[in-house]
Amino acid sequence: MPLEYPNPELRTSRVVLRKWSFDDLACVAEASTDPDIPRGTTVPTEYTDDAGRDWIERQWTRQTTGQGLSLAVAQPDGGKAVGLVYLGLRSPVGHCEIGYWLVPSARGRGLGIEAVRVSSRWVLGESAVYRLYAHVVPDNRASLALLEACGFTREGVLRSFLRYPDADLDVVSYSLLSSDL
Ligand SMILES: CC(C)(COP(=O)(O)OP(=O)(O)OC[C@H]1O[C@@H](n2cnc3c(N)ncnc32)[C@H](O)[C@@H]1OP(=O)(O)O)[C@@H](O)C(=O)NCCC(=O)NCCS
Repeated sequence: MPLEYPNPELRTSRVVLRKWSFDDLACVAEASTDPDIPRGTTVPTEYTDDAGRDWIERQWTRQTTGQGLSLAVAQPDGGKAVGLVYLGLRSPVGHCEIGYWLVPSARGRGLGIEAVRVSSRWVLGESAVYRLYAHVVPDNRASLALLEACGFTREGVLRSFLRYPDADLDVVSYSLLSSDL
């Protein structure tokens, strides 16, 4: 069953999670300058406005094709986008993978924790998803701490889970279940 955009929008006092818009190109441009974000996502490494618009259109298709939901993490009250939360529906039915990033200028202030906390509670509470999981490379200390702060349980290490041209990487698997809430 596809995920619909949350209505009303998910929000905390400092962030709102909303649909991407072509007004968010500056966020895609900053994300493309980060050494980590383009490596694990489809954010373009060589930013152009055309590539940025293509990326935003792809975010919309996550919902229209039933793959999941890509939400912009934005400042409240029509403010600019500073990051992403992706909820990717997986097999078997009821499993979902969460991915997230913030542009470098928005990090270190707890916004990532807020965005993941509100979106994880929503998807586990308001949809057929009952198992939400994340895979993190072991040296990504901010991401590991974020998941612990959001109540995810560390399950173990999946060896050589990611294959890059230059290396095979282990990942740490974390999950949050609807029954945990
Ligand atoms: C992971 C990411 C979203 C965290 O967002 P953030 O808003 O900067 O993180 P927060 O401020 O919410 O802090 C999350 C936790 O990480 C800790 N943290 C933040 N930066 C850290 C760093 N560089 N090293 C170690 N811990 C760090 C914080 O102290 C906090 O832990 P605490 O609650 O125990 O204090 C952000 O760093 C990012 O976008 N990284 C690049 C993309 C990425 O790695 N995505 C995840 C892929 S699995």
